[in-house]
Amino acid sequence: MKEYIKIHPWQIVEEGFHRENVKVSESVFSIGNGRMGQRANFEEDYSGETLQGSYLAGVYYPDKTRVGWWKNGYPEYFAKVLNSVSWNQIRVEVDGQVIDLNQMEPLNFTRTLDMKQGLLKRAYRVVTAKGIELEFDWTRFVSMKRKNLGVIALSIKASADCQINIQSKLSGDVHNQDSNYDEFFWQDTQAGVEGSQLWVTQETKKTNFSIAASSLHNIVLDTNSYTVNLSTEDRGSLANFNVRLEKNQELQLQKYTAVCSSMYGPEAELRNSAHAEAQEASHVGLAALLREQSQEWARIWHNCDVEIEGDDEAQQSIRFNIFQLFQTYTGDDSRLNIGPKGFTGEKYGGSTYWDTEAYCLPFYLATAPSDVARNLLVYRYNQLDKAIENAQKLGFTKGAALYPMVTMNGEECHNEWEITFEEIHRNGAIAYAVYDYINYTGDTGYMAEYGLEVLLGISRFWSQRVHFSENKQQWVMLGVTGPNEFENNVNNNWYTNKFAVWCLNYTRDQIHLLQKENPKRFAEIASKTAFAASEITRWDEITSNMYFPYDADRNVYLQQDGFLDKELIPVSQLSADQRPIVEHWSWDRILRSCYIKQADVLQGFYFFEDEFDLDSHKRHFDFYEPLTVHESSLSPCIHSILANKIGNSDKAYEFYLRTARLDLNDINNDTCDGCHITSMAGTWMTISKGFAGLRVRDGRLHLSPNIPQKWKSIRFNIRFRENYLRISLYKEQVEVENIEGPSLLINSWGVDFQVEPKQSKRIDYAKK
Ligand code: BGC
Repeated sequence: MKEYIKIHPWQIVEEGFHRENVKVSESVFSIGNGRMGQRANFEEDYSGETLQGSYLAGVYYPDKTRVGWWKNGYPEYFAKVLNSVSWNQIRVEVDGQVIDLNQMEPLNFTRTLDMKQGLLKRAYRVVTAKGIELEFDWTRFVSMKRKNLGVIALSIKASADCQINIQSKLSGDVHNQDSNYDEFFWQDTQAGVEGSQLWVTQETKKTNFSIAASSLHNIVLDTNSYTVNLSTEDRGSLANFNVRLEKNQELQLQKYTAVCSSMYGPEAELRNSAHAEAQEASHVGLAALLREQSQEWARIWHNCDVEIEGDDEAQQSIRFNIFQLFQTYTGDDSRLNIGPKGFTGEKYGGSTYWDTEAYCLPFYLATAPSDVARNLLVYRYNQLDKAIENAQKLGFTKGAALYPMVTMNGEECHNEWEITFEEIHRNGAIAYAVYDYINYTGDTGYMAEYGLEVLLGISRFWSQRVHFSENKQQWVMLGVTGPNEFENNVNNNWYTNKFAVWCLNYTRDQIHLLQKENPKRFAEIASKTAFAASEITRWDEITSNMYFPYDADRNVYLQQDGFLDKELIPVSQLSADQRPIVEHWSWDRILRSCYIKQADVLQGFYFFEDEFDLDSHKRHFDFYEPLTVHESSLSPCIHSILANKIGNSDKAYEFYLRTARLDLNDINNDTCDGCHITSMAGTWMTISKGFAGLRVRDGRLHLSPNIPQKWKSIRFNIRFRENYLRISLYKEQVEVENIEGPSLLINSWGVDFQVEPKQSKRIDYAKK
């Protein structure tokens, strides 16, 4: 665990230069606007360890799969979000000496991610070999309003007259570190100079996405003692500034770069568009663009801010999580999704996982207009045909759909058989998201329009994936991997069996409802999907007689058939030098151990809580949590929510900090690869579903607040159907302000209260 980030309610601040943490900071201080984003790589040269990354949403490359032993059904490629044109390389030389913080000892180094304004800033002083002290100030942002625009502003002051050379690049010479065959993913790179503009165009190999980038510079100096020379390089173009800087004089350089991709415009026009956008930005000017940026972020924060009174560490971290989520996904394009690392690294390829439905959806449902969450669902609807093809490849028939574990365009990318073929619980989360969306928004029309076809495909998959065991005289599901990836190819993973039954029942009920309420639309779907009523007969047979592993002595459901054969030694008895086990143990040892990577049975309790009483929650938590190593970022948040539910406030708070500060403190020792974006939505859930106990039941909002001892209050805004609400939680009271929308009946700890339009209501909560 690293503790070099200074606590501040609105900023992430690194004080002093932490050379050993450069890659971690590159991830933590990343910037993005949903359309493009980049790691916080230094603009100036850096000869130390770094992971260079600048990414464009939706622009990917199908990197040929690399496996030791090919298995039928493996995908041909792993889709990767590409490292694309780099616009932040600005080499600075002073009297011939290259500024390189790896070779110098920067003084008063501070790096700040200003989450209120959406800015990345760095400031430091360095002393050159000739003894000249230079003051550097960098500001960088990707515009939330102008989605193709990135801006860099540099200021340099010197303690004595000196000669400064600045080489600012636009470079198409970019590589992915995780490329399977060291391949260069781009082709037809062209670069040049036109007037005062640098430009680069290129195209991805195979997928043929085209991009064009254009940079313009603006130098501000109170003398004319400088020259500019623009030139073309291999795969890039360069602006070369030679400046005679006098003692205490300030040199300012602004760089406006627009990057346009064929995702959003015809290829033939990209170069002109990029040029026009960069030019417009330079006319608007830095001050106005900064104002715009701050206004856009104010608008976002207005919907989603969480205020925690009495705990700055907790405050900083929840804002950091929310900030990164909105930097990654803003929801205006149903072709896009939320990669586990967003724009902060290459790992996981920027592709879509079950994380989106299980973790991110609730966040966007409550903090953004409902079309944002709807777009996440439509993304899966649009990929239904591919999910059906995917299932066919594995031998399933009749419209059964298996959604991929990892995907960019609907095709499976993952190629470890125990996950690709067996971690099928992902289908459950995708079906649940349809329920979750309709339950939260009340948009029942979604079911008829899109939802039911997805549910039908998924249910058909489950009904073929199970079989009847003559031995048990029950339905079983063999050879699966549950959410706990530290156990593979197990039989009857309780969570997966549970989800299969839930999906079959939910789909059946929705079919009956639509048949009754909209027979015409139902007939259309039935004919399109060749649905037969006899399918439901089989589903009912399965759901009424499904096998669930269970231990009567402990009165707990078992993670899988063989779980109790394992040696059950609590994690507390593992020595610190064995952790994380994934880094210290062989895979063989991990698989045989009882250690659970992330919530598995407990993930099921999280989804289906209303089916189990509080005692059952406690028993299962007390049995499984002590065996859980939380080596997936997705784990602590679910445990925090459940700990809250069972009244274990200390654990709830401990897990809150663990999820919220996962990247800020590099808790899993892997933030250098990128931030854990999808689990950040889980952090938000620990506040809303955990400490506030927010649920929607029968179309009504329920709260059961229980805030940590240390906190005086929590305040957050949510959208709920037609209402926009501000919820304030105190130790003994809850207050709801009905900012927008009609009168609303809310329930807190079992007590109903009405909040009239534009009014607030504060009540004591009599905890059960
Ligand atoms: C977790 C998966 C998750 C993936 C991407 C893995 O470590 O075990 O549940 O989908 O990371 O976040």
